[in-house]
Amino acid sequence: MNANNSSASQSKFPEQIAITGIVPVVALDHADNAVPLAKALLAGGINFMEITFRTRAAAQAIANVSHEVPDMHVGAGTVLTMTQCVQALENGAQFIVAPGFSADIVRYCQENGIPVVPGCATPTEITECVRMGLSMVKFFPAKLYGGVSAIKALHAPFPDLKFLPTGGVNSDNMEEYLKLSCVSAVGGSWVCPKDLIEDGRFAEITALSREATDRIRARNA
Ligand code: 3PG
Repeated sequence: MNANNSSASQSKFPEQIAITGIVPVVALDHADNAVPLAKALLAGGINFMEITFRTRAAAQAIANVSHEVPDMHVGAGTVLTMTQCVQALENGAQFIVAPGFSADIVRYCQENGIPVVPGCATPTEITECVRMGLSMVKFFPAKLYGGVSAIKALHAPFPDLKFLPTGGVNSDNMEEYLKLSCVSAVGGSWVCPKDLIEDGRFAEITALSREATDRIRARNA
């Protein structure tokens, strides 16, 4: 695990993911698919990916990408326990994402200089994150909890906070989120659906990624 300056690393993360504007949320049944998937996303212009601990293959998948695809910034998602957090970092995860807020996970990542993005849906959870010095939270599940309108409302009391909305974000609505100044990037599984991964249809994943990144780039131009 790389222990570098925690505040620098955490504070730069929103800017880093804003360059591409999208963080795919990946669930892999087979760790062997991790490297071809990472290469397919990269070929489509996406250089961040969140491999979730929703499957047993997560740790090995993170290790495979970390060793074999150095241009991909691989992180761990759905990190619910300290055990998963430590395992993710030991296998090369460069950032940690969670569906909810856990102070022990946030503190551990801060101590080890690892960007951490806890999931929040309420002002109370966000307040805890801000009090711990975080500059970004995952707004999850974004669509169910009010989507763009909810983020606008939350932006008022937390004007310096960046959001990573995920959950129900897709090609049809990503631009509505990305036009908010407080949204650094969107997360989601639509560029890497499980069936395409399992069927080895990586060219289609590249095409979905390219479609998303081209539109984001055109919007930023
Ligand atoms: C997440 O954990 O970020 C979500 O499960 C992704 O949601 P999606 O599958 O609706 O994109």
